[in-house]
Amino acid sequence: MNILTFDSDEKLNEAAANIIIGQIQTTPRAVLGLATGGTPVGIYKEVVRDFQRGMFSFRNVTTFNLDEYVNLPIDHPESYHSYMNTHLFNHIDLPASQCHIPDGNASDTAAECRRYDESIELSGQIDLQLLGLGHNGHIGFNEPAHALIKGTHVVDLAEETLEANARFFDSIDDVPKQALTMGVGTILKAKKILLVVKGADKADIVHRALKGPITTDCPASLLQTHPNLIVLLDSTAAGKLS
Ligand code: F6R
Repeated sequence: MNILTFDSDEKLNEAAANIIIGQIQTTPRAVLGLATGGTPVGIYKEVVRDFQRGMFSFRNVTTFNLDEYVNLPIDHPESYHSYMNTHLFNHIDLPASQCHIPDGNASDTAAECRRYDESIELSGQIDLQLLGLGHNGHIGFNEPAHALIKGTHVVDLAEETLEANARFFDSIDDVPKQALTMGVGTILKAKKILLVVKGADKADIVHRALKGPITTDCPASLLQTHPNLIVLLDSTAAGKLS
């Protein structure tokens, strides 16, 4: 595991963006696993800026998002479809047929989960998986549990997740209670994982995830088993690491 700490959000975003861009430059047909939430917003901004400077192209890239809310219309401003369009897809040359987000409005969610896993399989391995970290140690929306699920599945969001995501909605009651998420097995199969964490409120969970026991109670702790994990932290998120 390679842990790097940054004293400014700007430098952290730039470093994360450079890893994503470097992946595309060395592997033009890269398969990227993408995350949403507050953490990657500045990273995508950097990626878009360098794309607009003509440094690289997404023409042959394929992307798979980690998750999407269940039963939130895709054109709702807080759907992860809208998020990805706003922060990345609307600004780059990634063909729509090459970007994948689970369909949280599918009438048969089990079939949608199978379909999503099959498309990931078909595209080969994810070359680079971008991850944020939940306050309870979730990655994607794999919440702490007695057992974790390998593939894409429907998940009941944990209370901490509803509370954390309430900031994006008018009230906590508006946060969808369920999501479709890529499973931990798929995440761990990625060739390279880039975990980015920001903020003092994540310092404890960063410590648990990276230095604590490997346990399904903290899904991110399973990342310790990955052979090619890069962790980018701001200095406050790194506050509890010695
Ligand atoms: C988002 C995702 C989540 C977030 C995590 C942190 O696609 O899968 O695991 O990365 O909840 O969210 P932020 O960045 O908003 O603190």
